[in-house]
Amino acid sequence: MRKPIIAGNWKLNKTISQAVDLVTELQALVADVSEVEIVVAPVFTALSAVAAALKENRIGLSAQDLYWEKSGAFTGEVSAELLRDAGCSYVIIGHSERRQYFGENNEMVNKKVRSALDAHLAPIICVGEHLAERQAGKTESVIEDHVMGAIEGLSANQLLTSVIAYEPVWAIGTGQVATPDQAQEVHAHIRRLLAGKYSKEVANQIQIQYGGSVKPANATDLLSQVDVDGALVGGASLEAESFAGIIAAARRN
Ligand code: 13P
Repeated sequence: MRKPIIAGNWKLNKTISQAVDLVTELQALVADVSEVEIVVAPVFTALSAVAAALKENRIGLSAQDLYWEKSGAFTGEVSAELLRDAGCSYVIIGHSERRQYFGENNEMVNKKVRSALDAHLAPIICVGEHLAERQAGKTESVIEDHVMGAIEGLSANQLLTSVIAYEPVWAIGTGQVATPDQAQEVHAHIRRLLAGKYSKEVANQIQIQYGGSVKPANATDLLSQVDVDGALVGGASLEAESFAGIIAAARRN
């Protein structure tokens, strides 16, 4: 049985004190939740303060990106080791916003994934097609390209330390959520790809999240799909109550 994983990607939002307030409120709402893996991903500057505010290890801390070099003359970058030092155990990698606005490609995503794993951080690897690609019938090939590119060279154990997040770009921040069937179809495709590269057992163990306009109202239907193991949540993770509502939906599944 795969444990559901609900992660909040706060993107470029919240000051340090707002971030601490949000996790403090959230912790009270999820105090009795143990059957769902809960993760929050604040901005870099708030990581240490949020780490200090997190009690009892009920909520895991994630960064939103990293750089693959360990240290050196790389102005502005943050390494996997430094994220661990700040209290992270996860890092989001290859989000479509990074691919779109910051030119990230599969090769960079793969380097980031490997550096995360080397530092014992669990990468949350984002993959997803644009609307035009879906309309052109290219969803499966785009997903294959993203998934295979990101996991190039990973052992089965490394893969199983990772989480994959299917985030169709057209569903991110648009309110236009994928239907449960659309999500299920792509998640099953990802599992088939992993079964081909590794084994059926490995493919059946990895957690695959859906992301894109997930809200408390649509979470139950999405999470009830057999291959949907959780959600990567943007907007609805910025308030404790709506994020807790999605966690509650994951619990009921
Ligand atoms: P929204 O939930 O705001 O659509 O964002 C999804 C996302 O990009 C999470 O990484």
